[in-house]
Amino acid sequence: MTPGPCRLAFAARAVGRRMGRWIRRIAGLGRRSAGRTASDYDARWRASLRAWLAYHQREVVFDRCRWMGVRVLKNPLDLWIYQELLHRVRPDRLVEIGSYEGGSTLFFAHLFDLLGHGAVISVDRDRAPFVVRHPRIVEVTGDCAAPETVAKVAELCRGHKVLLVHDGEHAREAVLRDLRLYADLVAVGSYLIVEDGIVDLFPAGGAFGRLAAGPLEAIEAFLAERPDFRPDESCERYVLTYNPRGFLRRIR
Ligand SMILES: C[S@@+](CC[C@H](N)C(=O)[O-])C[C@H]1O[C@@H](n2cnc3c(N)ncnc32)[C@H](O)[C@@H]1O
Repeated sequence: MTPGPCRLAFAARAVGRRMGRWIRRIAGLGRRSAGRTASDYDARWRASLRAWLAYHQREVVFDRCRWMGVRVLKNPLDLWIYQELLHRVRPDRLVEIGSYEGGSTLFFAHLFDLLGHGAVISVDRDRAPFVVRHPRIVEVTGDCAAPETVAKVAELCRGHKVLLVHDGEHAREAVLRDLRLYADLVAVGSYLIVEDGIVDLFPAGGAFGRLAAGPLEAIEAFLAERPDFRPDESCERYVLTYNPRGFLRRIR
Protein backbone atom coordinates (compact mmCIF):
# COMPACT_ATOMS: atom_id res chain seq x y z
CA MET A 1 0.00 0.00 0.00
CA THR A 2 1.40 3.45 -0.86
CA PRO A 3 1.38 6.06 1.93
CA GLY A 4 -1.12 8.92 1.48
CA PRO A 5 -0.04 12.56 1.13
CA CYS A 6 -0.67 13.27 4.85
CA ARG A 7 1.59 10.43 5.99
CA LEU A 8 4.24 11.53 3.48
CA ALA A 9 4.06 15.15 4.70
CA PHE A 10 4.27 13.96 8.32
CA ALA A 11 7.30 11.77 7.52
CA ALA A 12 8.98 14.64 5.64
CA ARG A 13 8.42 17.00 8.62
CA ALA A 14 9.88 14.42 11.02
CA VAL A 15 12.94 13.99 8.77
CA GLY A 16 13.15 17.80 8.53
CA ARG A 17 13.13 18.21 12.35
CA ARG A 18 15.82 15.57 12.82
CA MET A 19 17.83 17.12 10.00
CA GLY A 20 17.40 20.58 11.56
CA ARG A 21 19.09 19.38 14.76
CA TRP A 22 22.02 17.97 12.77
CA ILE A 23 22.25 21.09 10.62
CA ARG A 24 22.53 23.28 13.74
CA ARG A 25 25.18 20.93 15.06
CA ILE A 26 27.20 20.96 11.82
CA ALA A 27 26.89 24.72 11.47
CA GLY A 28 28.09 25.12 15.05
CA LEU A 29 25.17 27.40 16.00
CA GLY A 30 25.16 28.30 19.67
CA ARG A 31 28.85 27.64 20.06
CA ARG A 32 30.74 29.29 22.87
CA SER A 33 32.31 32.67 22.17
CA ALA A 34 35.75 31.21 23.03
CA GLY A 35 35.56 29.27 19.75
CA ARG A 36 34.98 25.68 18.74
CA THR A 37 36.48 22.92 20.82
CA ALA A 38 37.55 19.39 19.87
CA SER A 39 34.21 18.10 21.11
CA ASP A 40 32.37 20.58 18.86
CA TYR A 41 34.24 19.12 15.89
CA ASP A 42 33.54 15.61 17.13
CA ALA A 43 29.82 16.43 17.30
CA ARG A 44 29.95 17.75 13.72
CA TRP A 45 31.68 14.65 12.44
CA ARG A 46 29.05 12.38 13.94
CA ALA A 47 26.49 13.90 11.57
CA SER A 48 25.47 11.78 8.57
CA LEU A 49 26.42 12.53 4.97
CA ARG A 50 22.72 13.13 4.33
CA ALA A 51 22.73 15.79 7.08
CA TRP A 52 25.80 17.43 5.52
CA LEU A 53 24.04 17.61 2.15
CA ALA A 54 20.96 19.15 3.80
CA TYR A 55 23.21 21.61 5.66
CA HIS A 56 25.04 22.59 2.47
CA GLN A 57 21.76 23.03 0.62
CA ARG A 58 20.06 25.08 3.35
CA GLU A 59 22.96 27.09 4.73
CA VAL A 60 25.62 27.41 2.04
CA VAL A 61 24.86 26.82 -1.63
CA PHE A 62 22.55 29.75 -2.39
CA ASP A 63 24.57 32.44 -0.70
CA ARG A 64 27.90 31.33 0.67
CA CYS A 65 29.54 29.44 -2.19
CA ARG A 66 31.39 31.82 -4.49
CA TRP A 67 33.94 31.75 -7.28
CA MET A 68 35.99 34.97 -7.38
CA GLY A 69 33.22 36.73 -5.47
CA VAL A 70 30.37 35.55 -7.72
CA ARG A 71 27.72 33.17 -6.43
CA VAL A 72 28.00 29.65 -7.80
CA LEU A 73 25.17 27.25 -7.04
CA LYS A 74 27.22 24.09 -6.85
CA ASN A 75 28.82 21.64 -4.48
CA PRO A 76 32.57 22.51 -4.39
CA LEU A 77 33.44 18.80 -4.61
CA ASP A 78 31.66 18.71 -7.97
CA LEU A 79 33.59 21.81 -9.09
CA TRP A 80 36.81 19.89 -8.44
CA ILE A 81 35.54 17.07 -10.66
CA TYR A 82 34.84 19.64 -13.40
CA GLN A 83 38.45 20.81 -13.12
CA GLU A 84 39.69 17.23 -13.57
CA LEU A 85 37.37 16.59 -16.52
CA LEU A 86 38.36 19.77 -18.37
CA HIS A 87 42.01 18.93 -17.89
CA ARG A 88 41.51 15.35 -19.14
CA VAL A 89 39.05 15.95 -21.99
CA ARG A 90 40.33 19.39 -23.10
CA PRO A 91 37.13 20.39 -24.89
CA ASP A 92 37.17 23.31 -27.32
CA ARG A 93 33.70 24.43 -26.22
CA LEU A 94 31.86 24.00 -22.93
CA VAL A 95 28.13 24.63 -23.39
CA GLU A 96 26.46 25.65 -20.12
CA ILE A 97 22.66 25.55 -20.14
CA GLY A 98 21.66 27.73 -17.19
CA SER A 99 24.21 30.25 -15.90
CA TYR A 100 22.24 32.45 -13.45
CA GLU A 101 24.76 34.98 -11.98
CA GLY A 102 27.64 33.36 -13.85
CA GLY A 103 29.83 32.06 -11.00
CA SER A 104 30.08 28.64 -12.63
CA THR A 105 30.53 30.23 -16.09
CA LEU A 106 33.48 32.30 -14.84
CA PHE A 107 34.93 29.24 -13.09
CA PHE A 108 34.94 27.34 -16.41
CA ALA A 109 36.41 30.34 -18.26
CA HIS A 110 39.23 30.62 -15.71
CA LEU A 111 39.98 26.89 -16.08
CA PHE A 112 40.21 27.44 -19.84
CA ASP A 113 42.61 30.33 -19.15
CA LEU A 114 44.84 27.93 -17.20
CA LEU A 115 44.64 25.37 -20.00
CA GLY A 116 45.30 28.09 -22.59
CA HIS A 117 42.42 26.80 -24.69
CA GLY A 118 38.63 26.74 -24.95
CA ALA A 119 35.49 28.87 -24.70
CA VAL A 120 32.28 28.73 -22.67
CA ILE A 121 28.95 29.11 -24.43
CA SER A 122 26.55 30.36 -21.77
CA VAL A 123 22.88 29.74 -22.60
CA ASP A 124 20.28 31.42 -20.39
CA ARG A 125 16.85 32.87 -20.98
CA ASP A 126 17.33 35.50 -18.27
CA ARG A 127 20.48 37.62 -18.53
CA ALA A 128 19.43 40.09 -15.79
CA PRO A 129 21.23 38.29 -12.89
CA PHE A 130 24.36 37.55 -14.99
CA VAL A 131 27.22 39.68 -13.64
CA VAL A 132 30.36 38.29 -15.29
CA ARG A 133 32.33 39.28 -18.39
CA HIS A 134 35.30 37.36 -19.77
CA PRO A 135 36.80 37.07 -23.26
CA ARG A 136 36.27 33.29 -23.23
CA ILE A 137 32.52 33.57 -22.46
CA VAL A 138 30.03 33.76 -25.35
CA GLU A 139 26.47 34.61 -24.29
CA VAL A 140 23.48 33.07 -26.05
CA THR A 141 20.33 34.55 -24.54
CA GLY A 142 17.03 32.76 -25.05
CA ASP A 143 15.00 29.70 -24.15
CA CYS A 144 17.34 26.75 -24.59
CA ALA A 145 14.51 24.72 -26.16
CA ALA A 146 13.73 27.35 -28.82
CA PRO A 147 14.83 26.21 -32.32
CA GLU A 148 16.80 29.44 -32.91
CA THR A 149 18.77 28.92 -29.66
CA VAL A 150 19.54 25.29 -30.53
CA ALA A 151 20.65 26.39 -34.03
CA LYS A 152 22.85 29.21 -32.67
CA VAL A 153 24.60 26.87 -30.21
CA ALA A 154 25.07 24.21 -32.91
CA GLU A 155 26.64 26.86 -35.17
CA LEU A 156 29.04 27.98 -32.40
CA CYS A 157 30.00 24.35 -31.76
CA ARG A 158 30.45 23.24 -35.37
CA GLY A 159 33.75 21.40 -35.84
CA HIS A 160 34.62 21.64 -32.13
CA LYS A 161 35.02 19.12 -29.33
CA VAL A 162 32.12 19.86 -26.97
CA LEU A 163 31.43 19.16 -23.30
CA LEU A 164 27.93 20.10 -22.11
CA VAL A 165 26.61 21.02 -18.66
CA HIS A 166 22.87 21.05 -18.05
CA ASP A 167 21.92 23.30 -15.12
CA GLY A 168 18.71 24.85 -16.47
CA GLU A 169 15.15 23.99 -15.49
CA HIS A 170 15.19 20.87 -13.28
CA ALA A 171 11.77 19.32 -13.96
CA ARG A 172 12.06 15.83 -15.48
CA GLU A 173 10.36 16.70 -18.78
CA ALA A 174 12.39 19.88 -19.29
CA VAL A 175 15.69 18.10 -18.61
CA LEU A 176 14.83 15.20 -20.90
CA ARG A 177 13.76 17.62 -23.64
CA ASP A 178 17.08 19.50 -23.36
CA LEU A 179 19.17 16.32 -23.30
CA ARG A 180 17.46 15.15 -26.47
CA LEU A 181 18.07 18.54 -28.13
CA TYR A 182 21.75 18.91 -27.23
CA ALA A 183 23.27 15.44 -26.65
CA ASP A 184 24.46 15.03 -30.24
CA LEU A 185 26.80 18.00 -29.82
CA VAL A 186 28.86 16.09 -27.23
CA ALA A 187 32.04 14.52 -28.62
CA VAL A 188 32.87 10.84 -28.14
CA GLY A 189 35.04 10.60 -25.01
CA SER A 190 33.61 13.88 -23.68
CA TYR A 191 30.83 14.42 -21.13
CA LEU A 192 27.25 15.54 -20.77
CA ILE A 193 26.82 16.58 -17.15
CA VAL A 194 23.34 16.78 -15.67
CA GLU A 195 23.25 18.86 -12.50
CA ASP A 196 21.12 18.39 -9.41
CA GLY A 197 19.74 14.86 -9.77
CA ILE A 198 20.14 14.83 -5.98
CA VAL A 199 16.69 16.44 -5.67
CA ASP A 200 15.17 13.10 -6.66
CA LEU A 201 16.87 11.32 -3.76
CA PHE A 202 15.58 13.53 -0.95
CA PRO A 203 12.08 13.17 0.53
CA ALA A 204 9.40 15.51 -0.78
CA GLY A 205 9.38 18.66 1.33
CA GLY A 206 12.94 17.98 2.54
CA ALA A 207 16.01 20.19 2.21
CA PHE A 208 16.04 20.00 -1.58
CA GLY A 209 12.40 21.05 -1.95
CA ARG A 210 11.53 18.37 -4.48
CA LEU A 211 7.92 18.72 -5.59
CA ALA A 212 7.92 16.64 -8.76
CA ALA A 213 10.16 14.29 -10.75
CA GLY A 214 13.51 15.89 -11.54
CA PRO A 215 16.88 15.43 -13.29
CA LEU A 216 17.70 11.93 -12.05
CA GLU A 217 14.50 10.55 -13.53
CA ALA A 218 15.29 12.36 -16.78
CA ILE A 219 18.77 10.79 -16.79
CA GLU A 220 17.32 7.28 -16.46
CA ALA A 221 14.89 7.91 -19.34
CA PHE A 222 17.69 9.39 -21.47
CA LEU A 223 20.05 6.47 -20.80
CA ALA A 224 17.32 4.02 -21.88
CA GLU A 225 17.23 5.83 -25.24
CA ARG A 226 20.94 6.49 -25.65
CA PRO A 227 23.28 3.53 -25.05
CA ASP A 228 26.10 5.70 -26.41
CA PHE A 229 26.17 7.54 -23.06
CA ARG A 230 27.19 5.90 -19.79
CA PRO A 231 27.37 7.32 -16.23
CA ASP A 232 31.00 7.64 -15.13
CA GLU A 233 30.73 6.73 -11.46
CA SER A 234 34.39 7.52 -10.85
CA CYS A 235 33.22 11.16 -10.89
CA GLU A 236 31.22 10.37 -7.73
CA ARG A 237 34.19 9.20 -5.69
CA TYR A 238 33.98 12.08 -3.23
CA VAL A 239 30.53 10.64 -2.38
CA LEU A 240 28.96 14.02 -1.67
CA THR A 241 27.89 14.87 -5.20
CA TYR A 242 24.83 16.83 -6.30
CA ASN A 243 24.91 14.91 -9.58
CA PRO A 244 24.19 11.19 -8.92
CA ARG A 245 24.52 9.29 -12.23
CA GLY A 246 24.85 12.73 -13.80
CA PHE A 247 28.40 12.61 -15.23
CA LEU A 248 27.53 10.97 -18.56
CA ARG A 249 30.45 9.98 -20.76
CA ARG A 250 29.83 9.52 -24.46
CA ILE A 251 31.37 6.18 -25.29
CA ARG A 252 30.68 6.00 -29.04
C1 LIG B 1 20.28 26.71 -11.20
S1 LIG B 1 20.45 28.20 -12.10
C2 LIG B 1 22.06 28.01 -12.81
C3 LIG B 1 23.15 28.08 -11.79
C4 LIG B 1 24.55 28.21 -12.31
N1 LIG B 1 24.87 27.23 -13.32
C5 LIG B 1 25.53 28.07 -11.15
O1 LIG B 1 26.08 26.95 -10.96
O2 LIG B 1 25.75 29.05 -10.44
C6 LIG B 1 19.36 27.87 -13.45
C7 LIG B 1 19.39 28.88 -14.60
O3 LIG B 1 18.74 28.25 -15.71
C8 LIG B 1 18.04 29.21 -16.43
N2 LIG B 1 16.98 28.52 -17.21
C9 LIG B 1 15.95 27.80 -16.71
N3 LIG B 1 15.21 27.32 -17.72
C10 LIG B 1 15.78 27.74 -18.88
C11 LIG B 1 15.48 27.58 -20.26
N4 LIG B 1 14.41 26.89 -20.67
N5 LIG B 1 16.30 28.15 -21.18
C12 LIG B 1 17.38 28.87 -20.78
N6 LIG B 1 17.72 29.06 -19.48
C13 LIG B 1 16.93 28.50 -18.54
C14 LIG B 1 17.51 30.18 -15.37
O4 LIG B 1 17.24 31.45 -15.94
C15 LIG B 1 18.64 30.19 -14.34
O5 LIG B 1 19.52 31.28 -14.57
